[in-house]
Amino acid sequence: MNKKTVRDIPLQQRKVFVRVDFNVPEDENGKITNDARIKAALPTIEYLIKEGAKVILASHLGRPKGQVTAKYSLKPVAVRLRELLGQEVLLAPDCVGPETEALANGLRDGQVLLLENLRFHAEEEKNEPEFARRLASLAEVYVNDAFGAAHRAHASTAGIAKYLPAVAGFLMEKEVNITGNALEKPERPFITIIGGAKISDKIGVIRNLITKVDAIIIGGGMANTFLRAQGYTLGKSLVEEDKVELAGQLLAEAKAQGVELLLPVDLVAAKEVSGDAQTRVVKLTEIAADEMALDIGPASGELFASRITPAKTVIWNGPMGVFEIEKFSQGTKSVTRAAAACAGTTIVGGGDTVAAVEGLGLAAEFTHISTGGGASLEFLEGKILPGVAALEDKT
Ligand code: 3PG
Repeated sequence: MNKKTVRDIPLQQRKVFVRVDFNVPEDENGKITNDARIKAALPTIEYLIKEGAKVILASHLGRPKGQVTAKYSLKPVAVRLRELLGQEVLLAPDCVGPETEALANGLRDGQVLLLENLRFHAEEEKNEPEFARRLASLAEVYVNDAFGAAHRAHASTAGIAKYLPAVAGFLMEKEVNITGNALEKPERPFITIIGGAKISDKIGVIRNLITKVDAIIIGGGMANTFLRAQGYTLGKSLVEEDKVELAGQLLAEAKAQGVELLLPVDLVAAKEVSGDAQTRVVKLTEIAADEMALDIGPASGELFASRITPAKTVIWNGPMGVFEIEKFSQGTKSVTRAAAACAGTTIVGGGDTVAAVEGLGLAAEFTHISTGGGASLEFLEGKILPGVAALEDKT
């Protein structure tokens, strides 16, 4: 990454505004169900503490649309962060305003203050310059460690960088470097696995990766649209009829580029999306009119694994089926195991895919588990992320 990082700037005794992505999932009682994003920000926070900075953390949580909403308070995050850091974490009542300013100004070196949800102010998502300036006025240095929000041009991810020296945190650096290197100078064979329900969410990713990879594996609901383009009738399966032509074009593009595009060769079919459904493994020609494809079949799992495990670089985004239901999770599990067994660089992104990998206890076998959902996708599309672009270039 050609951007300055926290290593390139004096931090001691300085007030440092750190944009983190603490947008973590919570259950209906406000209990955090996955703290991976908080843990991923710890190296930067601990470094700043060690360097003697006064640490001001800011994040969004959910989409409160400019309204102060109790269930989107960062209070549970402050509690968890305190446990993880093993030191006090102050929680400001807001992200701007006199009380917050007083708390920021009263920080001692190495102390940590978490601001309340940035999206309680509509100006955040509108990237209003005056709001960005108010956020900036709390500190002397800006650090962006929120890779998960780097695709958003908001006041705290982009606008604020105009008012302060702006550098990347360690998580931002790691995310951009690992995936960026894999995209720019991959060890080959370079394979990508794309899944998920809809082709419309991943068109940009497929288009960009087709120009870079040796093989592209497509599974999940979106594979149905490709199979339809090849002429298969798939009963009641999810097919994006308006994208069938596009799927055909992508198949042709892959062929023209000499890229192997692998689709499922068998499927798990059922009449309903339910844990009680009767399932059967079918060939592509065998789906009945009242059945749906809800997972890739075992032969597809083996075929995909035969390309994934020996690869030198693997980028994966999107599950192979309705993996939340055990009966339709085998395809995603076989891809997880195949990628975990791969000795090359393995990168996985997207909330569902990461959950599947973590659910099997295989996260440690991957080179990198991205904290980005939408940000990962936009990065894989080859887009410039505004949160990265706003940071200072290395000289
Ligand atoms: C995410 O969860 O992908 C990021 O935190 C961004 O959230 P957003 O989609 O609400 O901007």
